[in-house]
Amino acid sequence: MTDRRPSQALVAASILDCDLARLGDEIRRAEDAGVDRIHVDIMDGHFVPNLTFGWKTVEAIRRVTTLPFDAHLMITDPLRWGPMFVEAGCESVSLHVEVEERQVRPALELIRAAGRAAGLSLRPGTPLDALTPYRDLLDIILVMTVEPGFGGQSFMTDVANTKLAAARAWLDPAGACEVQVDGGGRAATAEVIGRGGTDVIVSGSALYRAEDMVAEVAAIKAIANAARAAGEG
Ligand code: DX5
Ligand code: ZN
Repeated sequence: MTDRRPSQALVAASILDCDLARLGDEIRRAEDAGVDRIHVDIMDGHFVPNLTFGWKTVEAIRRVTTLPFDAHLMITDPLRWGPMFVEAGCESVSLHVEVEERQVRPALELIRAAGRAAGLSLRPGTPLDALTPYRDLLDIILVMTVEPGFGGQSFMTDVANTKLAAARAWLDPAGACEVQVDGGGRAATAEVIGRGGTDVIVSGSALYRAEDMVAEVAAIKAIANAARAAGEG
């Protein structure tokens, strides 16, 4: 496992709730506002009750920015589709550990074999130890702090408090794995998120509904990094 931990907490813009009629402009706007990644939510209408982008869309927006793309697959068949999102230009692909067990290890192996970062995401109700069988294959742990499927939901503070620090301490004592938080990421939740030692904070509606996206990105980073530094003692 390569050491993926950034020295400072990063912000990834989820484009799920941006103005999809101007997708390219919205990605550039997030880049100009100082985000570090673009978080691409792929939903199939089965694993979650929503339907979003296909790999052709990801291939098209790949031309818009050089920022890394983190694909978040909320789909029942990541073994089939994961490689397509690698091909489309995603630097990392995270699938859900709750999919059919026979898919998980092969899908992670395919992503890594392609030289990309492989991640597992957990619904709020799924315990961290569901990831134990795959610990050797994890570059990213994507902790959901909302039920997957939609942006703009309320942040689950209890999930963050129980899972974030544990993810670091238990799953990855060597500290090489990247821990991401996804769902309700904003300045108001950045302190709890940073305290858990989170590396990447996904933010969708807070950024795209902000009066001032630059200020929101800067606030999330400042607050999360102050909490992270305090937590590291
Ligand atoms: C939800 C997605 C999240 C979501 C984040 O299923 O995985 O990435 O778009 O959006 P906010 O920040 O609005 O919760
Ligand atoms: Zn997501």
